[in-house]
Amino acid sequence: MEVDKKDEREAESSEQVVNPWEVSAKDGGKIDYDKLIDKFGCQRLDESLIDRVQRLTSRQPHVFLRRGVFFAHRDFNEILDAYEKGDKFYLYTGRGPSSEALHLGHLIPFMFTKYLQEAFKVPLVIQLTDDEKCMWKNLSVEESQRLARENAKDIIACGFDVTKTFIFSDFDYVGGAFYKNMVRVAKCVTLNKAMGIFGFSGEDHIGKLSFPPVQAVPSFPSSFPHLFPGKDNLRCLIPCAIDQDPYFRMTRDVAPRLGYSKPALIESSFFPALQGENGKMSASDPNSAIYVTDTAKDIKNKINRYAFSGGQDSVEKHKELGANLEVDIPVKYLSFFLEDDSELEHIKKEYGEGRMLTGEVKKRLTEVLTEMVERHRRARAAVTDEMVDAFMAVRPLPRMFE
Ligand code: TYM
Repeated sequence: MEVDKKDEREAESSEQVVNPWEVSAKDGGKIDYDKLIDKFGCQRLDESLIDRVQRLTSRQPHVFLRRGVFFAHRDFNEILDAYEKGDKFYLYTGRGPSSEALHLGHLIPFMFTKYLQEAFKVPLVIQLTDDEKCMWKNLSVEESQRLARENAKDIIACGFDVTKTFIFSDFDYVGGAFYKNMVRVAKCVTLNKAMGIFGFSGEDHIGKLSFPPVQAVPSFPSSFPHLFPGKDNLRCLIPCAIDQDPYFRMTRDVAPRLGYSKPALIESSFFPALQGENGKMSASDPNSAIYVTDTAKDIKNKINRYAFSGGQDSVEKHKELGANLEVDIPVKYLSFFLEDDSELEHIKKEYGEGRMLTGEVKKRLTEVLTEMVERHRRARAAVTDEMVDAFMAVRPLPRMFE
């Protein structure tokens, strides 16, 4: 029985690949998130948990929760149990600074983390893995550090509260208590295990092998003695897309051996490429994604030219058959970023039944995204170097739990 299950899983992994470096679906189809939950061994985020979030925070759950963008978790229920009893937690998320500009997919965990920080009134640490990208993307140390600071501006522009948020770059911060935890983690993970989890091979340089503990240890409060002194039992919740899960499977595996709590996770699906839902957006293909630096004209052109449509080939046929919403990218994008539930339902109904045409849906999407990117651009322009320094200063957070 066990063997059958293993064979089945191996067959699946030859079909779709989801890890921090590659996201691709089977035969150009869609990512099968149910299979992923089963394969990774995480839990589905169901309605009852979302209702609990609403009750505990006394506010409407974020669109990304209501619409199932965040769809999986590990021990999020335990975080809520503890919160209900009055025990707070801290949030941990991150960014690998591989490019100057973020695409809309990268913004998703940060927008959601901001909501969590506000709703639960908890502190947040944000890791900029400049070391990771230096090793994987063959960037120089200096260039990776520069990109980390540039990306920090985009992250700050999402609206985080400086009195509750610590942003750090690995090149600046790794050392002391953080490094001690890295060594503790590294001693618990064999080469075989790392090869199994991350797919490393003998051809990979040893820098890559040494990296996973760096992403693991922000999950432990003792890695931040200036923030959480004497709070070694504070639980950690990590919002991210499901591609980061391998790092935290490893972390959760070793945590009990070190006497630490396992971090909890809340994981999202991928904001898809314009061309369709078979993977996540690619930084190496600028036409696959909309960037926070795109102009209104870029956004309009990209949507009109590249956004895969589920509409029919001719107006007559479209009026007769309606659009296939399952594959339609404009509708998918609207379901991430159009806040108004009733307008979204209206568009889906009218378009799905052929009364609304692809051009009209694309026009509405262009408005929504242009407005969002414009807002982000203005917020980023207002982020000064002093603000970046303030977020990145190693300091206590005065209003952590208020
Ligand atoms: P990075 O820079 O590749 O991605 C940053 C965050 O964005 C998520 N993400 C997406 N979410 C939705 N749709 C997409 N198309 C999409 N593409 C990327 C990623 O899951 C991630 O949450 N190694 C990490 C940096 C990191 C980190 C962390 C991330 C360090 N510690 C803790 C999450 C949590 C990286 O390179 O992310």
